[in-house]
Amino acid sequence: MDSFLRRKWRGYNARDPMSLLKQSTRQVVSPKVVCIEDLRSIAEHRVPRAVFDYLDGGAEGEVTLRENCRSFQEVSFRPRHAVDVPQCDLRTRVLGFDLALPAMLAPVGYSRLMHPGGEVAAARAAGKAGTAYILSTISGHRLEDVKAASSGPVFYQLYLLGGRGAAEAAIDRARQAGFSALFVTIDTAVSGLRERDIRNGMKELISGGVLQKVPYLWQILSRPGWLLSFLLDGGMPPLPNVVIPDQGPMPLVDVNAALASSTVTWQDLRWIREHWRGPMVVKGVLTGEDARRSIDEGAAAVVVSNHGGRQLDCVPASLRVLPEIAAAVNGQIEVLMDGGIRRGTDIVKALCMGARAVLCGRAYAYGLAAAGEAGVSRALEILRVDLERSLKLLGCPSVGALDRTYVSLPRDWQT
Ligand SMILES: Cc1cc2nc3c(=O)[nH]c(=O)nc-3n(C[C@H](O)[C@H](O)[C@H](O)COP(=O)(O)O)c2cc1C
Repeated sequence: MDSFLRRKWRGYNARDPMSLLKQSTRQVVSPKVVCIEDLRSIAEHRVPRAVFDYLDGGAEGEVTLRENCRSFQEVSFRPRHAVDVPQCDLRTRVLGFDLALPAMLAPVGYSRLMHPGGEVAAARAAGKAGTAYILSTISGHRLEDVKAASSGPVFYQLYLLGGRGAAEAAIDRARQAGFSALFVTIDTAVSGLRERDIRNGMKELISGGVLQKVPYLWQILSRPGWLLSFLLDGGMPPLPNVVIPDQGPMPLVDVNAALASSTVTWQDLRWIREHWRGPMVVKGVLTGEDARRSIDEGAAAVVVSNHGGRQLDCVPASLRVLPEIAAAVNGQIEVLMDGGIRRGTDIVKALCMGARAVLCGRAYAYGLAAAGEAGVSRALEILRVDLERSLKLLGCPSVGALDRTYVSLPRDWQT
């Protein structure tokens, strides 16, 4: 086994199995990693195919997944040259918190499968970068531990998994632990059809019996470094933040079935807001009508989002509908957006088009899968440096000064 591991993973030391993780930390420095795509390809080689495709893939034909990224390429800049911008102010304020940069970490379920550090590592990296972390309901670490790991604001994303009793318990725990806002995701009436997950046997690997797992095990065995860290971490974790009254933490196996019976409705939002009493954010808004309805239900912000192209395929790219939603909201509440952010220029474009800040999903999750906390920090550093350079090249001194005059949209976007 040792010689096999040494062959597969240079730097593996049998007396220190965690050397596998330290090795991957070294892999994310420049010039090995200069952009998010580099983190993606390291992640692809570190984690089993089923885990990578779960992270990388989208729903059905992946049209929206592709559009999320492509739409940014359709927007061009209108720079102001011959302007000296010695210092750029990247700070913004979201939900009453000062952030060092206008990019937060989106809720990403099953993060602990990508790396044992999972949500704790991501939250710590976010805090160190001066930004916020949003913890998914489908998380492998206790919410109290995630909050304790971060020096920055931490928000909780709510699914109604396990029913109202489990949701109320999670809301109470989140409040007590010091979470500062609740993000309620409304685009998950059922889980989207992720074809890659079916082909890779994701369900069988998570919840099947030994015989059902066998056809898919090669993916796991071909990633011994990941396998060892997964086993040292205790294997498949239950969901410590979905505690069903009288039953205990929900096992990971039930998640897809449970999502199908946990649709969030506008009536639920009223009840959630009354129970939570802090700022509530509606995540998954794609029309001006839903944005207005969110305001009526007392939301402090909306996230323009199509769940990273993982739910209903062929809905528009988030960037494409951002202007409609910014217009409908008309400054009454904060507008956040996510979907397709891979570069600092993407963040700049989203801000020019009406977002106060963006959420990054895969951009940091690739880093997490590649190298744990070091990978997330590297992703955030890439975006921060990109952002600063882009502002200087645009001739704009601060993210707060970005507006529509800095971008040019395709003609058919204006209608
Ligand atoms: C692997 C993965 C898991 C996700 N899990 C959740 C989740 O548990 N809750 C949620 O509201 N959104 C979830 N999302 C959606 C993200 O919060 C975010 O909307 C999306 O990733 C943004 O697109 P991007 O990945 O292109 O940045 C997930 C996204 C990915 C990639």
